[in-house]
Amino acid sequence: MHTKVWKINSTNILDKDIHEAAEMLRAGEVVAFPTETVYGLGADATNESAVRKIFEAKGRPQDNPLIAHVASADQLKELVTFIPDYVYKLMEAFSPGPLTYILPANEYCAQSVKAGLSTIGVRIPSHPVALALLQAAGKPVAAPSANVSGKPSPTSATHVYDDLNGRIAGLIDGGQTGVGLESTVIDCTGEIPVILRPGGITKEQLELETGAVMMDPGLAASSVDRPKAPGMKYKHYAPEVPLYLFTGSSEALKDLADKEKLAGNRVGILVSDQTAEIFAEDTHVHKLGGTIEEIASTLYDGLRFFKQANVDKIICETFTEKGIGQAVMNRLRKAADSII
Ligand code: TXA
Ligand code: MG
Repeated sequence: MHTKVWKINSTNILDKDIHEAAEMLRAGEVVAFPTETVYGLGADATNESAVRKIFEAKGRPQDNPLIAHVASADQLKELVTFIPDYVYKLMEAFSPGPLTYILPANEYCAQSVKAGLSTIGVRIPSHPVALALLQAAGKPVAAPSANVSGKPSPTSATHVYDDLNGRIAGLIDGGQTGVGLESTVIDCTGEIPVILRPGGITKEQLELETGAVMMDPGLAASSVDRPKAPGMKYKHYAPEVPLYLFTGSSEALKDLADKEKLAGNRVGILVSDQTAEIFAEDTHVHKLGGTIEEIASTLYDGLRFFKQANVDKIICETFTEKGIGQAVMNRLRKAADSII
């Protein structure tokens, strides 16, 4: 299959290109597009055979439901049977934006979007290209992250192209995404919201709007419970070589890197700008940024980076669990082969 690529500048969105991509979606084809979190792999959420093409292109397990993307709160209402009051408050504060609401579903969307569940995940993305595409399509668009299942999510069109060229009908290149990690997924079927996947909106931010917010116990690093979001049970976000998560001090990490070098191993080191300072010049160090927000936005690119550098393994330091650090550490634990 030929993959048509459109380059679209967010500040100068060309109607012609957006309409061409929207037409492809309406015709039942799969199109990748930028959002403020990561690139999504979109299909008409009301068209069963179109949605199945997403699962095929990604190699995604059939039991993992998709998020329906909509352009407005009115369109969101068309997909669900009930909206609790706290969701209105959260929508006021965070939609459009990186927050996904799990709500009781009606029959509007195709069955495989829900993967057999009675609920559906819905989000209004804030990326101007995503919003323009959704408006032009005039339909809810089911979209998981636009990577091959198991790999790090794509934060640039190049990442999508590397994974899916020839397997999808279209790709809108809108440059780098912003947040760099996926949306926060919250279960809104109970009295208070429950975070099923930490992401772009932090627990602290949510609590400021609604009061108490719970974390799914299945998310705890030590948990034996099953996570409630089907997608969170898989190994995920993994680079192509083994990834080790290092919990010790920066000095201990430097010692380890030196030891590995002496043993003749090619090791890639993923660290913050500050930690990067202490390594010798001949160490393969990739800097993720100086703040936890920068680290979030470059993490997936960092996990993909060492593919070209030809290393045998990657060692990544651990970061703060505050704010978006919670999502950063959640993704790193899922991506890691072991924690040392
Ligand atoms: O930022 C994002 O959310 C990106 C962009 C493209 O919008 N999308 C994304 O989709 O990350 P995906 O499919 O990679 O992750 C969706 C997560 C999975 O863990 C899935 O199991 C969970 O949301 N999910 C979707 N529908 C659900 C439902 N009805 N109940 C529980 N979990 C659900
Ligand atoms: Mg994903």
